[in-house]
Amino acid sequence: MIETMEEKAIQEIKQLLQLVDQKLSSIPSSPMKHDLIHEIKQWSDEKKESESMEQVVNPYEVSAKDGGKIDYDKIVEKFGCKRVDQSLIDRVHRLTSRDPHVFLRRGVFFAHRDFNEILDSFERGDKFYLYTGRGPSSEALHLGHLIPFMFTKYLQEAFKVPVVIQLTDDEKFMWSKTLKVEDTKRLARENIKDIIACGFDVEKTFIFSNIEHAGTFYENTLKIGKCVTVNKANAIFGFAGEDPVGKMGFPPVQAAPSFASSFQHLFLGKDNNLRCLIPCAIDQDPYFRMTRDVAPRLDYSKPALIESKFLPSLKAMNGKMSASNPNSAIYVTDTTKDIKKKVNSAFSGGKDNSTEQENAGADLEVDIPFKYLSFFLDDDAELEHIKKEYGEGRMLSGPVKQRLTEVLTEVVEKHRKARAAVTDEMVNAFMAVRPLPKMFD
Ligand code: TYM
Ligand code: TRP
Repeated sequence: MIETMEEKAIQEIKQLLQLVDQKLSSIPSSPMKHDLIHEIKQWSDEKKESESMEQVVNPYEVSAKDGGKIDYDKIVEKFGCKRVDQSLIDRVHRLTSRDPHVFLRRGVFFAHRDFNEILDSFERGDKFYLYTGRGPSSEALHLGHLIPFMFTKYLQEAFKVPVVIQLTDDEKFMWSKTLKVEDTKRLARENIKDIIACGFDVEKTFIFSNIEHAGTFYENTLKIGKCVTVNKANAIFGFAGEDPVGKMGFPPVQAAPSFASSFQHLFLGKDNNLRCLIPCAIDQDPYFRMTRDVAPRLDYSKPALIESKFLPSLKAMNGKMSASNPNSAIYVTDTTKDIKKKVNSAFSGGKDNSTEQENAGADLEVDIPFKYLSFFLDDDAELEHIKKEYGEGRMLSGPVKQRLTEVLTEVVEKHRKARAAVTDEMVNAFMAVRPLPKMFD
């Protein structure tokens, strides 16, 4: 009988599994054996997931098939959020009397929930507040992390509204295999310096660490926790029986700052229904789907969201820039030399030699340097020029990478200067539990 390659491979794997089973039964019960079985289960769950789904987007993982790219239309459809369309961008332009941020103009912030309602009520004279956050898992932020903070700073200025920023040092402790509580607390303070360097106004901004400021929003954490069943949490976040129980308690902690009553010192309990707008990348959406589901039961208004695409990894379009792989990411602490080296190693859609490039042009859909330029090169006309020349083969990948190196060096240099000026006293000032009398000025 002639077997196909697949049939043969399947047969071989089945034999290997039998062998695994035999070996396993030869080991007596022990915690080590238990861990091993757990590892096998995790591996098989992962395989199952990557087989059944083409892409995974959740707070813990972002990936599309090898060689593919994230399909944002599919996310919008699956999550049930809405596309940001031109009329919404025009409205922002009108209401703020300034050019919409480059991330809005270029479709980086591409999806929303009830952002139109926030604009409706703003037009009637009602205010709102902004909420975003960071999980302090690394010493320094990478360029992907800067995106929601740069955008939130722009919204703060354009709409003249307060901002609350959550540092989830508790989350990173619970999820990490190596970080201790003291580590994530320290990283939170380090990351706060990078966040302040984005230009937030201390008279309109409250930055807090979940561990150090636990009291300020714990009541709402409890109320939310009571409304979410284990079944519901599992359906959204997919916890496993072997996970630490603390993980399951975390989603209400990320949800609580969406409600104004969590910040008695800012809103004085008078304005518990002040609406909240959350800028974040779309991986955080599951937390806020849960939050929006709970809100009416607590008599709170649902938070609105404005959500971004991912700055891709240096290596491919099918994942996000991520701190867990330093070579996939450009950090705000990288030197010009690091940046140059990393940009030169980025995945290019240009052709291998200049003749081919001149004939066919670059594939801009997969070209990482061009994608990065579309996030960070402000000048619309220059971007359009590069798109045309490079895409049609009159420009080679070398000069595109060269230009990107300049643009990113400028972003990182500006950040480095601003960060160097941030003192410990400034960090304390942003973190002080205090009223913000000028928050709407
Ligand atoms: P964290 O620290 O993983 O990420 C911080 C913010 O950066 C976004 N982000 C990216 N955006 C674009 N491109 C990328 N490659 C990229 N990588 C990360 C994230 O979506 C996030 O907006 N649990 C959260 C912290 C948090 C939070 C929040 C975030 C608490 N409350 C409210 C947003 C809104 C976390 O670990 O984020
Ligand atoms: N539109 C691109 C896509 O389909 C991705 C993209 C992300 C983009 N950020 C951008 C395009 C900024 C232009 C500008 O994946």
